[in-house]
Amino acid sequence: MNAAIAPPTLVSPTPSQPLTIEGAVPLNLLVVVDDRFVREACKEAAAALGYCTTATGSAEQAFSLIDSQTIDVVLLDLNLPGAGGLEVLGEIKRLQRDIEVIVMTGNGTVQSAVQAMKAGACDFVTKPFGLNELKLLLERVAAHLKLKVANRRLCDEMRSGQSFGNIVGRTPEMDRLYRIIGKAAHSAHPVLILGESGTGKEMVARAIHYSGPCRDKPFVPVDCGSLVPTLIESELFGHVKGAFTGASHAKDGLLALAEGGTVFLDEIGELPLDLQSKLLRALQEKEIRPVGSTKQIPINVRILAATNRDLEHAVGQGVFRRDLYFRLNVLSLRIPPLRERRQDVRLLVNTFLERHSRASGRKFDVSDDALKALTAYHWPGNVRELENCIERCCAMNSGPVIHTTDLPTSITGATARVSEGSPEPRITRIADLEKQGIVGAIEKLSGDKLMAAKLLGIGKTTLYRKLKEYESIS
Ligand SMILES: Nc1ncnc2c1ncn2[C@@H]1O[C@H](COP(=O)(O)OP(=O)(O)OP(=O)(O)O)[C@@H](O)[C@H]1O
Ligand SMILES: [Mg+2]
Repeated sequence: MNAAIAPPTLVSPTPSQPLTIEGAVPLNLLVVVDDRFVREACKEAAAALGYCTTATGSAEQAFSLIDSQTIDVVLLDLNLPGAGGLEVLGEIKRLQRDIEVIVMTGNGTVQSAVQAMKAGACDFVTKPFGLNELKLLLERVAAHLKLKVANRRLCDEMRSGQSFGNIVGRTPEMDRLYRIIGKAAHSAHPVLILGESGTGKEMVARAIHYSGPCRDKPFVPVDCGSLVPTLIESELFGHVKGAFTGASHAKDGLLALAEGGTVFLDEIGELPLDLQSKLLRALQEKEIRPVGSTKQIPINVRILAATNRDLEHAVGQGVFRRDLYFRLNVLSLRIPPLRERRQDVRLLVNTFLERHSRASGRKFDVSDDALKALTAYHWPGNVRELENCIERCCAMNSGPVIHTTDLPTSITGATARVSEGSPEPRITRIADLEKQGIVGAIEKLSGDKLMAAKLLGIGKTTLYRKLKEYESIS
């Protein structure tokens, strides 16, 4: 190896901020170079740019890393000993079509660089090269990747007919919701967002704000349920100096801070009655009076409110003001609970798995059976519960595939029905449970069958016999 690369110590030891795409997703680079010195130098240079880097000198290990982790870019030396560079490139592309491969070629072998580009490499660098050259190349590829991902997301959004932030869902119920969000975004009226806990009310509120003309102005969420009752008034309307004990400075309220933007009143059903009338007055008059002040201050904000309570019922019970309810309910939308749009479970699961794979650098998938169980479950905590469940499964799982045995028993034990019309509870055959237990244990233990037999409390001969049976059945 004759790459004229500076010694690793010359590379800036302080890594810059991690390079990310789609907000917070890190960019992962795999360096596949035989020469240890060059490998380490490349690794350090990439890490200093903010890439999450892994390195190996072997093609075989590179394949297994690509198979088990999320890799965005490969820096590949075409002269790996014992392996044809172009074949290695071909195999990488076969394993992961989307990976960007930068090839490193020997001096004077431009022809192999051309061949590599034809075989799918995105760029090349010719040895000997300097660190600056490598740095520029890696920066270029990072910029290209960011664009590619943004472009793909745009295409996905256009294909699914929506572009409301990260809201996932393609069922007719969600399509209806997108249409209403689109309309609400371009109106200035208050919107009341209804839905059970975890259905995505705050996401929808943000989508309305950020899709509308005031997207550059503040979006201020206010959790009416968690504010201390005695402080809600000053939080919303502000106070003057000395208004109450401890008010050593004048403070602007959230309604004033959101000037020109949106105030999202979450859990509006929890607002005490006396404040409901003050809020109503503020909305009608479009002005507020800070606590302790005699002056009214004009405000210009859009109000979005959300609740998981039945507000009509609360009005009937006299705990929510009817006039405020009408004022907030000019436009209203209801987010369907997840059990009413089970077809979205697969898409949501894939989205969360993909997010987790990218963040952890390990690939995750879900088995068909596990997906069936997830789809059948009734999800009282809706999308938030599903998101947490996938997060937990990924964190606890040693293997790349989430099986039914990895799911919480509250989900697998549930007798939810796959389709609304089907009356039978889900019953699993004992033989299937046994198979799930054995196969799941082997996967969890990364293929260690002897340990699996030990932990399952069965003899190794029994375990091998069972595996043979499964093979002959499948
Ligand atoms: N359609 C969706 N697509 C993707 N993620 C979603 C969706 N709906 C909800 N989530 C996720 O679920 C979690 C809960 O969402 P959110 O806080 O908006 O729900 P909420 O209805 O306001 O819940 P709560 O009533 O408990 O406050 C968030 O992490 C959000 O990212
Ligand atoms: Mg909420």
